[in-house]
Amino acid sequence: MAIAGVFVLLGLRRGLAPLIRLRDAVRSPDRSDLDPVEVPGAQSEIRPLIDALNAYMERVRAQMAAQRRFIANAAHQLRTPLALLSTQASYALRESAADRRQEALVALQASSGRLARLAEQLLTLSRAEPGSRRPRADRIDLTEAARQVLEGQAPKAVERNIDLGLEETGPVPVIGDGTMLREMIVNLIDNALRYSKPGGSVTVKLAASNGEAELTVTDAGPGIAVEEREHVFERFYRIAGATEEGSGLGLAIVREVVENAGGSVTLGDAPAGGLRVEVRLPLASSDDGAR
Ligand SMILES: Nc1ncnc2c1ncn2[C@@H]1O[C@H](COP(=O)(O)OP(=O)(O)OP(=O)(O)O)[C@@H](O)[C@H]1O
Ligand SMILES: [Mg+2]
Repeated sequence: MAIAGVFVLLGLRRGLAPLIRLRDAVRSPDRSDLDPVEVPGAQSEIRPLIDALNAYMERVRAQMAAQRRFIANAAHQLRTPLALLSTQASYALRESAADRRQEALVALQASSGRLARLAEQLLTLSRAEPGSRRPRADRIDLTEAARQVLEGQAPKAVERNIDLGLEETGPVPVIGDGTMLREMIVNLIDNALRYSKPGGSVTVKLAASNGEAELTVTDAGPGIAVEEREHVFERFYRIAGATEEGSGLGLAIVREVVENAGGSVTLGDAPAGGLRVEVRLPLASSDDGAR
């Protein structure tokens, strides 16, 4: 019995040795974080474990790199309007003529508004990030949400002399986070108003069919070239030569919110030129309301 026990122990030690080496390799203080683990002489049994561990660390590393890029970009985007704000404040302070001072203050107010919008967009993106918080699953009427957003955007439409209209035939219930869904619509309408020519028209249309909610925003602007359509959804991406102000976050927010809610977004051509953005979301069924 004793001899058999010694053999079992020896066998176990031999069998566990590669795992212990793997543990030491992971713990090793020489290893910089998330570098691939290497266990010399590891047998084929634990090779798949090492490969899986390394593949996982590679994914985490890529995610961390993306986060770092995002923070650097965000800080850069915030720095420019902050510097402008400070210049405008100094200018207003120096100016003794009442009308010039008024002008400088109006410009300062506009810059702080843009800064607030950027902060709002950054916050929305960080909330939409997977794992940042439990996604809300409320029953939302997309038609009502669109109507609220349209009311909020109406002054901008009036200012640009754009005919902003809503076409709907009743409630379109979906399951999702109301704040995020409204933010998604805000960004679509903001783009449509901003990139359209003054005097044009923007139409928001809602429909429900075949278990799908459909929201389309159509404008009469220049549209987006086919080869740019995938890129414009990237964070901070703006089409070269853009004259309007912006940070390139609007469509990134749209895509993230829509995908979080289990839907899809596509860009196309409006019948009369311009851009047509189509958002499709799963329609809430009548028993979803019980949640
Ligand atoms: N309706 C549209 N018509 C024409 N071009 C558009 C339209 N919407 C977006 N674009 C183009 O796609 C780019 C990316 O849009 P996105 O909304 O992501 O960022 P932005 O409008 O530049 O900035 P932000 O929305 O963060 O203020 C814009 O810079 C613009 O060139
Ligand atoms: Mg935008």
